[in-house]
This record gives sequence, C-alpha cells and structure tokens, in this order.
Amino acid sequence: MRTQVVVIGGGPSGLLLSQLLHVHGIDSIVLERKTKDYVLGRIRAGVLEQGFVNLMEKAGVADRLHAEGFEHDGTLIAFDDDCFRIDFNAQTGTPVVIYGQTEVTRDLYEAREAAGGTLIFNTEDVTIHDADTDHPFVTYSVDGQEQRIDADFVAGCDGFHGVSRQAIPLSVRREYEKVYPFGWLGILSETPPVHDELIYSSSRRGFALCSMRNENLSRYYIQCSLSDSPDDWTDSAFWAELKRRIPKTFADHLVTGPSIEKSIAPLRSFVTEPMQWGRLFLCGDAAHIVPPTGAKGLNTASSDVYYLHNALRDYYDHGSRDGIDAYSQNALTRIWKAERFSWWFSSLMHRFPDQSEFDLKIQRAEIDFLRTNTAAQKAMAENYVGLPY
Ligand code: APR
Ligand code: PHB
Repeated sequence: MRTQVVVIGGGPSGLLLSQLLHVHGIDSIVLERKTKDYVLGRIRAGVLEQGFVNLMEKAGVADRLHAEGFEHDGTLIAFDDDCFRIDFNAQTGTPVVIYGQTEVTRDLYEAREAAGGTLIFNTEDVTIHDADTDHPFVTYSVDGQEQRIDADFVAGCDGFHGVSRQAIPLSVRREYEKVYPFGWLGILSETPPVHDELIYSSSRRGFALCSMRNENLSRYYIQCSLSDSPDDWTDSAFWAELKRRIPKTFADHLVTGPSIEKSIAPLRSFVTEPMQWGRLFLCGDAAHIVPPTGAKGLNTASSDVYYLHNALRDYYDHGSRDGIDAYSQNALTRIWKAERFSWWFSSLMHRFPDQSEFDLKIQRAEIDFLRTNTAAQKAMAENYVGLPY
C-alpha cells in the first residue's frame, strides 16, 4: 500500500490529525493496535480548551460537542475548608468546554468512517523503517500476515507506550521525567455533580477533584497511594474519603451511588526531545505526559496536531518545508509551558508524603496569594483555558 501520511495510533491525536489532513485533501492510513471498542472504553479527562474546540470545528466534527458540551466560566479551588473561585471569563474572556474525551474519540471515528478513511485495527509489530530518508515505510501484521505501507511521512500518535518514540535513536533522543509519589483513584457514577463547576480541593488527607460529564454523570478523583489497587476501594470507602477531602458545604450535599468505572492512574511529567526525526513526527502522549491536575493531556496533543497538520498542508500545497523543519521546536515551546503549569498546579494542590511543615506553610501562602491576587488569578486562568497557538 501507499499513502501520503501513515498515522500510528488511533487515539484522539491520530484520529484528529487524520481527519484534518483529509479536510485538506491529504491521504492517510491509521494503524491502531487495539479494537475500536477497546479505545472507546477508555475513560479520560473531559475539559477542552477553546483551541481544541476550534480544531474540531476545522475538522468538521464539532456538532455534537457544541450540542452536548457545557461551557464552564470558572473553577473552584479549596484548601481545607477555604474555598474560592477563579473566574475564567473575567480573567481571560474564554471558557473551557466540558465534554468527555471518550465522546471526542467517538465523534472522530464516526467522521473518519463516514469519509471512507482507512483505519486498520489489531495491528501487531508496527515498525517504522528509513524515517531518516525520503522514502520511509511502515511494516505491521494483522492476523499473522505482514503488510507494508510506503509513505511520504509517518506520524507517531501511539501514546506513551507506543513504538514511534523508540524509533528515534538514543543518540538523538533526550527524555525528561518527573514521577510523583502518588496516583489518582477515579470513579464515574450516574449521579448529579456536587456543584455546577469543577472543585479542585487540597485537604490534610490529600487532594480530591469533583468533575463531571453531564447533569447525571459525575467524575470524582482522590489522591491515593501508588501501592493501592482499585479493588482495595469499595464504593462506600471512596465516597467517605471524598467527603473528608472537600469543604463541608459540598460534602453535605454530595449525592453518592454505585460506581460504573473505577481506576487508578499514576502521575507523571514526561517530555521527549526532539519530537521529530527525519520524516517521523511525534504527537500527543507519544512525546509527552502531564499529571492530570490541569487537564492538559488532550489539550497538549491538540497543539501538536495543529502545528503538524499546518506544516504538512504547507508542504503539499506550496512545497514549503519551513513548517516541517520547525515542527519540533514549535510544538515543544508550547508543551513545556503546559508541563510547567501542570507541574505547578499539581505541586500546589497535593499533599506529598515527605512534605515538611515549611513546605505546607509555603503551599498555604501560595494558595492565599492566588485567592487574593488578581494577577495570580489571571496567570492561572490563562494557563487553564489554554495558552494561544
Ligand atoms: N501500534 C499501533 N497503535 C498503537 C501502538 C502500536 N505499536 N501503541 C499504541 N497504540 C495506540 C493505542 O492503542 C492508543 O489507542 O495508540 C493510541 C494512542 O492513544 P492515546 O494513548 O489516547 O494518546 P493520544 O492519542 O496522544 O491522546 C492524548 O489521550 O492518553 C490521553 O492523557 C492523554 O488526554 C491525552 C490524550
Ligand atoms: C475529568 O473530568 O476527568 C478531569 C477534569 C479535570 C482534570 C482532570 C480530569 O484536571
């Protein structure tokens, strides 16, 4: 087979890239290791920056997002029983949109299928060849049959555990990582959210987040030990712990119910440089990971896709290599700012196992500064709603 761009990975990065390329008349083939149902079964965050919404519009897949998503103009931040609001609208004039990443992925699959796009599932042993030449190709097998696709470019959108990043030789690749000494235990429940905006709460028992998908679907998280497993937590133990970690006014009104999903995610900051090697480009989780505290996972993937689809469009329309040559630098400049924000917000809101009394006083002072200083609120809001690209 031959195509213009082979996209490795059928998560949100790969699908959005493929759909945007299609809109610009550029052909691609998406290779996904799992099945579509498996990909759609993954529960991920649900806060979209305006920049991501704009890209979904450009890709022609924003109708359901507009109909079913909720605009949020602010968020609550609690520290023990103190609680205040950051007003995104007042500080930036821009809201965020609450719409689950699972739904984003579903919309993108539908659009790719409706456009007759080639999506190949259950691919094994995907291998990138000759990425540093003008004639890269990818081999893989399905049902034991080896296949080959020749292409102009390869987009590595295969997430943190994918193969694309590893295809960049160690002599060129540099990785930067910070692992946090805790995880997040998350549950989804068919109950009304405790509040109409998100609540990020730091308590002496650890961090908690109250989030949502819609009026009758709530998503809650609590900071947990890395040695915990979801089976250690009954629903009632989860609800009891959540109530202890959010301000009393909310705990008293929390509606509880059975969980329909329960999982633990470790927290990690990770960046690989460069994000490009010859004709191979990395996008999304394949190149970087953020801790979920700022909801930047999908939103960082989206700026990569933005830079890459523009670069490829300029290449095919005008023969210009400028965007392609600058891809890694452009993407990383924004990524590091999102990394900084996610690290800062995570460091501010969690209780760390080795935290001293001094560290706690500093956290408290920083929260107080954020509560009372409009410049600090503006900086937080600008980062939360998404830096421009
Ligand atoms: N071959 C083909 N597909 C692969 C391979 C491989 N070797 N390895 C991984 N994949 C697939 C995975 O099965 C997954 O569906 O690549 C996809 C990568 O998707 P994500 O992990 O969702 O990454 P990405 O599309 O960059 O999305 C970024 O999603 O993971 C969250 O927190 C992340 O919100 C962020 C966003
Ligand atoms: C979520 O709704 O799953 C969510 C929201 C905000 C975050 C992280 C996760 O910061």
